[in-house]
Amino acid sequence: MTSWSDGYVTEIGYTHGYYRELAPSLQRFALLSAGFAPPRQQNYLELGFGQGLSACIHAAAAPCRVWATDFNPTQAFNAQDLMDEAGLDGTLLDDSFAELLARGDLPEFDHIGAHGIWTWVSDESRHQIVDIFDRHLSIGGIAYLSYNTLPGWGSSMPLRHLMCLHADLAGAPAQGIPRKVEEAIAYANRLSSLGAGYFTTHPEVRERLERMPALERNYVAHEYFNRNWEPMHFADFANWLATARLDYATSAHIFDHADEVNLSPDAQAMVRETGHEILRETLRDYFVNRYFRRDIFQRGRRRLSALEQNSLLQATRFGLQIPPADVSMTITCAVGEVGLQETIYRPLLQALAADGYKVKTLLELRGLLPQLQPVQVWQALRILVGLGHVFPGQDAAAAEQVRDRCKRLNRALCRRARFSPDFVFLASPELGAGIAVPRIEQLFLGARDDGHKTPDDWAQAAWSVMLGQAFRVRKDDRTLETPEENVAELKRLAGEFAEKRLPMLQGLGIA
Ligand SMILES: C[S@@+](CC[C@H](N)C(=O)[O-])C[C@H]1O[C@@H](n2cnc3c(N)ncnc32)[C@H](O)[C@@H]1O
Repeated sequence: MTSWSDGYVTEIGYTHGYYRELAPSLQRFALLSAGFAPPRQQNYLELGFGQGLSACIHAAAAPCRVWATDFNPTQAFNAQDLMDEAGLDGTLLDDSFAELLARGDLPEFDHIGAHGIWTWVSDESRHQIVDIFDRHLSIGGIAYLSYNTLPGWGSSMPLRHLMCLHADLAGAPAQGIPRKVEEAIAYANRLSSLGAGYFTTHPEVRERLERMPALERNYVAHEYFNRNWEPMHFADFANWLATARLDYATSAHIFDHADEVNLSPDAQAMVRETGHEILRETLRDYFVNRYFRRDIFQRGRRRLSALEQNSLLQATRFGLQIPPADVSMTITCAVGEVGLQETIYRPLLQALAADGYKVKTLLELRGLLPQLQPVQVWQALRILVGLGHVFPGQDAAAAEQVRDRCKRLNRALCRRARFSPDFVFLASPELGAGIAVPRIEQLFLGARDDGHKTPDDWAQAAWSVMLGQAFRVRKDDRTLETPEENVAELKRLAGEFAEKRLPMLQGLGIA
C-alpha cells in the first residue's frame, strides 16, 4: 500500500471501462426526460478517471473543455499517453481531490462526474468531493455520481468483510493483491461449501461468490478489497450533497425513468402516493432491491413546462447502436419478462436505421412514423435508450466541431487494438459519446483506414496482427487453433461486419 493512496488499491490497475452515464449528451437527455433544464456545456470535470478512457472519449467527442484527475500516477500516465497520441487538448492531472481543491486555476464546471468513486473512498475524500462541487459547479451545473447502495448490498456486506479480513490477517504483504484476492475467494467458497448458515440463509450471496471467478481480477480487487467501502442509502447520500446546495434531479441510468418496466402497477401506485421525493426514490430502491445508483444532482433545478420539455426533446437527435435485427423483443426486468410491442418497436428501429443510420431528431422520427402516436414513439425511444440500444446525440453543429478529434482518437484506439485487448470503445461525434466496438472490429477498421479495400483484405490484415501473439478467434465457445480456421472465420466475421455493423458505425461518424 502506498502512502498517497489513503487505503485505495493501487497495486493493480483499474479496468479500461467506458461509462456512458458520464457523457454530457446522455446527462442532458436524462434531465430533459425528467423535466429539468439542462446546464450549459462548456467545462467538464471527471474525478478519479481510472484508466481515463471515458475522459479521453469525452475530450474528443463532447463539445466541452475536459478536465480530469486521478491520483494514481501510472493510470494518469496511461491516459495522458492516449490523449497525446490523439492530439486532444483536455487537461489530465494526477492530483488527489485535496490537491485539486488547492489549485487556483480551475474554471467553473457545468458537469462534474465521479463514476465508481464515492463508495470506495474515505469520509475525508467524500468531504473533498462535496467541496469541489460546492466551489466549482456552475449555476445549473450537474454532479453525477455512482455508488453502491442499500438495500441491494445489505446481505453481501459480511461477505466483503470476511474476504478483506482474510486478506489482512492470513495474506502476507509479499503475496501481492492478486494472490490475496484468489485466496480470499477460495476461503469464502470453502466456508460456503461447508453449508455455513450465512450462505444458506442468503443464497443470493452464494451466487455472487460463485460469479466472482469469472470477473476481471482488477475489478474484484477494486470492488471488494479497498480499505474503504461504504454502500449508502439514497437519503444519506442526498444529505451529503445538500451541504453543497445540490438537489436530486434524476437517474443517469435511463431505464430507471420508466416505472412501468421496473414496478408492478400496485408498486407504481404506492410510489405515486408518496409525497416526498426522497422517500419516493427510497421506495423505488426497496422495490427493485437496488444495489447501484447512478444519480444526477443539480445546483438549482429548473422545472421545464411541458411545452418547453417537448420542444427541447423534439430537437434532440438519437442514434441507433445495434442493427435492428439484433434487438430482442423480450426484455427481462424487475417486473419479470416483458414483451416489447412489435408494432411500435419494429418500425421505430427501422426508422432509426433508415438513411444509413443517420442520427435523427425525435421530430424527424415522429414524421417517419405517422401511424404511431407521438407519445408511443417517445416512450419506446426512452426504453430503447434505457436498454442501451439507442443513444441521445448532440446537435449537428457540435458533431461537426468534434469530428476530426474523434477521428484522431479512434485511429489511436484502433492502433492500440493491435497490441492490447483493453480498449473496446470508439468515440462517436454524432453522439458525443463512446460506443462498444470489439477488438476484432477495431482491427478491421484499422486495416480499412490503412487502405485495405475488401473484407477479405481486412481479415488478412487482422490475421497478420494476431499471428505474432496469443490472440485467436473464438467460435462456438472454442478457441480456433490453426491459421486456416482463423483466417476462414475472420473472413466470415469481416463480411458480416461490412454488411451489418459498418453502415451503423458510418452513420455514427465512427468509420
Ligand atoms: C473504482 S476506480 C473508478 C475509476 C473510473 N472512474 C471507472 O469507473 O472506471 C476509483 C478511482 O479513483 C481514484 N481515486 C481514489 N481516491 C482518489 C483521490 N483521493 N484523489 C484522486 N483520485 C482518487 C483511484 O485511483 C481510482 O482510479
